[in-house]
Amino acid sequence: MREAPTTPPQPQGEIVIRPLREEDLLDLEWDGEYVHFRNLYRRAYEEMLQGLRLMMVAVDGTTGEIVGQVFVQYSSGDPRFADGRTRGYIYALRVKAGYQNRGIGHQLIQAAEDNLRQKGMRTATIGVAKSNTGAQRLYEHIGYRVLGEDAGRWSYLDERGHLQEVNEPSWVMEHLLESKASRGRAGG
Ligand SMILES: CC(C)(COP(=O)(O)OP(=O)(O)OC[C@H]1O[C@@H](n2cnc3c(N)ncnc32)[C@H](O)[C@@H]1OP(=O)(O)O)[C@@H](O)C(=O)NCCC(=O)NCCS
Repeated sequence: MREAPTTPPQPQGEIVIRPLREEDLLDLEWDGEYVHFRNLYRRAYEEMLQGLRLMMVAVDGTTGEIVGQVFVQYSSGDPRFADGRTRGYIYALRVKAGYQNRGIGHQLIQAAEDNLRQKGMRTATIGVAKSNTGAQRLYEHIGYRVLGEDAGRWSYLDERGHLQEVNEPSWVMEHLLESKASRGRAGG
């Protein structure tokens, strides 16, 4: 049986997790792979300036390259995900292929959860495609449990202004956020 997760494994090189800056926006496109999200990222950035979201990046301290990202949303039209008071939604988690399996994804989730704690929120939620069993396993190891299902239907305007529709049946997962102090006691 696996032990309950406490501290994520440490990556080999120094990884710095910090809020996204405006000049990072194009780097989130990862050499074109995510260019279709350009408008979405810009809007999320504008909402971050309004205090509605947080976008964080993981940076390789040696090269300065952005190697991962995670976003946090405080309110949502679907209160299962976020209600602006007690529940916040963690999404857009991604780590570059060459940097995966070194604990960066876990670190990004912890940074996102720390932000929700600072906001006084008690629960973190994540939506994960039912087909993405690898990510789901990581969330379960951190302590997330399936709360329900979501049709995963949403749409966005791509970089050319064309409407793109996503249809990705998902699990809604949640994690009760214990305080830092009790986490320290449990984790040693
Ligand atoms: C999902 C994703 C963000 C995980 O990022 P990651 O940096 O690889 O995550 P971690 O390294 O923290 O954890 C991944 C696994 O590697 C293991 N691991 C972590 N550090 C390790 C190390 N130093 N050595 C060996 N294994 C390690 C973890 O235990 C974990 O195993 P588990 O899945 O059995 O729990 C990444 O795979 C990704 O970007 N995938 C594509 C996009 C995606 O699916 N995003 C999620 C959308 S919901």
